Amino acid sequence: MNDVWTSYDSKNFVLEGISLSIDRGTNYAIVGQSGSGKSTLLKLMNGMMIPSKGTIKIDYVTPNMNNKKFKKMLHTIGYIPQSLGLIKNITVLENILIGALPRLNTIQSLLKRFPEHEIQEAKRIISLVGLSGKEERKAYMLSGGEKRRVAIARALMQKPTILLADEIVSELDHVTAHEIMNLIADAQKRMNLTAIMVHHDMQIALEFANRVAVIKEGHKILEIGIEGDSIVDFQTGNINTEEIMEMYADDTKK
Ligand SMILES: Nc1ncnc2c1ncn2[C@@H]1O[C@H](COP(=O)(O)OP(=O)(O)O)[C@@H](O)[C@H]1O
Ligand SMILES: [Mg+2]
Repeated sequence: MNDVWTSYDSKNFVLEGISLSIDRGTNYAIVGQSGSGKSTLLKLMNGMMIPSKGTIKIDYVTPNMNNKKFKKMLHTIGYIPQSLGLIKNITVLENILIGALPRLNTIQSLLKRFPEHEIQEAKRIISLVGLSGKEERKAYMLSGGEKRRVAIARALMQKPTILLADEIVSELDHVTAHEIMNLIADAQKRMNLTAIMVHHDMQIALEFANRVAVIKEGHKILEIGIEGDSIVDFQTGNINTEEIMEMYADDTKK
């Protein structure tokens, strides 16, 4: 992303001059308080919005729903919106199979007739995300943590190379949030996924990400790299985790 500016009303910019570069296989976190522009950033990566100024490339392709090349690669981007986007009245298995729709031919897809191997694949992923035995449960009956597992499974069913997740662990208790983050971290490493996750909690970002970008009022105010327990780079010099937490805490009080 190079010098990206975005506006919803062509007057006020909600993102201003954002530049970032994310390597394949990275676990990348975007952190910021409510209204800072995090969801907008993900929508730009997913081609749901196009920037007013600046350029975005994913594997040399510009994200834009009107771009045929991008539409072709869109199924390789697993996007989990903040609302999760599950269909309430269908089962766990049926929700997850939606991730395989792009692989079906027109007739199969119109009739939602999934080949046996896709159903087997869905079941494998169900067990991977810890939902075995809940295949036939309707989505609305699930707990918050289980709903997130379904949304992750549906995204994995796409066989994605990039996973975009918007505040997937916000509102969850500490233990469940860590279970969900570990699940994504495992999948990310095993499939060499590029995971780009939005959080409002700096702590969870520092725990799981290789890199963290902090967004404030539409600007990227800092970007840090994390290796093991130490922070290996910081754009303005040396800083430790405590100092970052302090800076961030001050931000959220305003
Ligand atoms: N559909 C929209 N129309 C107009 N303004 C929007 C829309 N979506 C978001 N905004 C505004 O853009 C800014 C950034 O929003 P958003 O990206 O959702 O932030 P975050 O995800 O960090 O909470 C906010 O000021 C928000 O009010
Ligand atoms: Mg948001």
